[in-house]
Amino acid sequence: MKVLAIAMQKGGVGKSTLTRSLAVAASNAGLNVLALDMDAQQSTTQWRDRRTEQLPAVKFSTENDLPKLLEHAEKAGCDLVIIDTPPARSTEAPAAVEAADLVLVPCTPDIEAYEQLPRTARLARTTGKAAAVVLMMAQPNSQSEEKIAREVFKTIGIPMAEAILHRFKVHRDASREGVTAAEMEPGSKAAQEIGALWDWVRAELQLGTSAVVHKKARK
Ligand SMILES: Nc1ncnc2c1ncn2[C@@H]1O[C@H](COP(=O)(O)OP(=O)(O)OP(=O)(O)O)[C@@H](O)[C@H]1O
Ligand SMILES: [Mg+2]
Repeated sequence: MKVLAIAMQKGGVGKSTLTRSLAVAASNAGLNVLALDMDAQQSTTQWRDRRTEQLPAVKFSTENDLPKLLEHAEKAGCDLVIIDTPPARSTEAPAAVEAADLVLVPCTPDIEAYEQLPRTARLARTTGKAAAVVLMMAQPNSQSEEKIAREVFKTIGIPMAEAILHRFKVHRDASREGVTAAEMEPGSKAAQEIGALWDWVRAELQLGTSAVVHKKARK
């Protein structure tokens, strides 16, 4: 079982959107996925409540419950746990990072997010966890925000995931409907970007490839 923590101290950068998008992508790839909502706002839990699909499983977890829930998930044959964490300084984010094999740090292309990024990057670094920043909500069809972001991430010393999730309204619309952008508009650019990010995450975590899953399905 692999654990992916989604953490960033800055609020509203897309932590929950990233959690849900990757959880649905992983579930559609045939993996047994659990999304853990560690944010007291419970926005991912509420998103689950708006969903009609059963999968992926979403559970709320406090910091105290986390070790037990991870143990249960492993015993139940879970392949991947994705942990959504709260904004601001919290005890939940360090606990999630501590439990993680990989930490993804969503970051929007604005100064407020860039100012918060070093703290979250440091958290991953001090725990010795592999971490990568995911550029979120960059303007589509423009290179300028991405170019500046790459410079900032380089200066801070945090690697960047290859895929970017640009700013598309479908992410917001999907949240309202209890789905992801890829479920709402499967052929869209937003869906392609989630697919590319999921491929990258799966390779980083050395999770079973879709080839294996498909081979099983063909038998
Ligand atoms: N790539 C995107 N394009 C457009 N809108 C997006 C994108 N990603 C997220 N959003 C929207 O931005 C808002 C904030 O996203 P989200 O709730 O995922 O952030 P968060 O980091 O979890 O926030 P919080 O810190 O409050 O938990 C939501 O309305 C979401 O639908
Ligand atoms: Mg959130």
